[in-house]
Amino acid sequence: MSARLIRIAPSILSADFSKLGEEVRMIDAAGADYIHIDVMDGHFVPNLTFGAPVVKSIRRHTDKPFDVHLMIAPVDALVADFVAAGADIITAHAEAGPHLHRTLQLIKSHGVKCGVSLNPATPAESIAHVMDMLDLVLVMTVNPGFGGQSFIPLLDKIATVRRMIDASGRAIDLEVDGGVDPKTAKDCIAAGADVLVAGTAIFKDGPENYASNISAIRG
Ligand code: DX5
Ligand code: ZN
Repeated sequence: MSARLIRIAPSILSADFSKLGEEVRMIDAAGADYIHIDVMDGHFVPNLTFGAPVVKSIRRHTDKPFDVHLMIAPVDALVADFVAAGADIITAHAEAGPHLHRTLQLIKSHGVKCGVSLNPATPAESIAHVMDMLDLVLVMTVNPGFGGQSFIPLLDKIATVRRMIDASGRAIDLEVDGGVDPKTAKDCIAAGADVLVAGTAIFKDGPENYASNISAIRG
């Protein structure tokens, strides 16, 4: 098997929100490939983070792609705001509404990359009929809502999504999010992941360790 290019997407959920711009600059300099931005609404998930104005305010601190993970329902009405704020990839949850296809059409209509996220209990097959619309599949390995949770070993599911992506013939990122550390990252990569989100494992121990923490996850 040819080696896939592994990309690391630090989740700013674990950053110091009082100096978010500086944190984004530091993870950029430390080797982040994407900036993973967790938007939570206190409804789809039991926690609140921030909205499009905060995303806009950090946009000028980096040129790295903004990987915006929307844990909100309903989602459609806010997609345009996140595009305007500078999102490069917008990922919506398959479980967030009854019309996933419509949501993906809407994201694509804005000319940004289009992602779908699957909660741990949602089968890979639920996206079989939208593969032709996707640029990214995000497999959640925790129940979304909080950083610092334990990795749920859904390695078979990651492998199934890898087979679906390869069969599609499309360049679709396979991103894993939740409880990723150097050890679980290795398992995810072996199962077929090529983008790894990590919050706790990157931001722990302070900025002087961001680069080594990112390298350790990259493997
Ligand atoms: C969880 C978020 C994750 C989270 C990951 O709902 O989607 O991106 O920040 O945090 P860790 O790496 O700490 O599990
Ligand atoms: Zn996330």
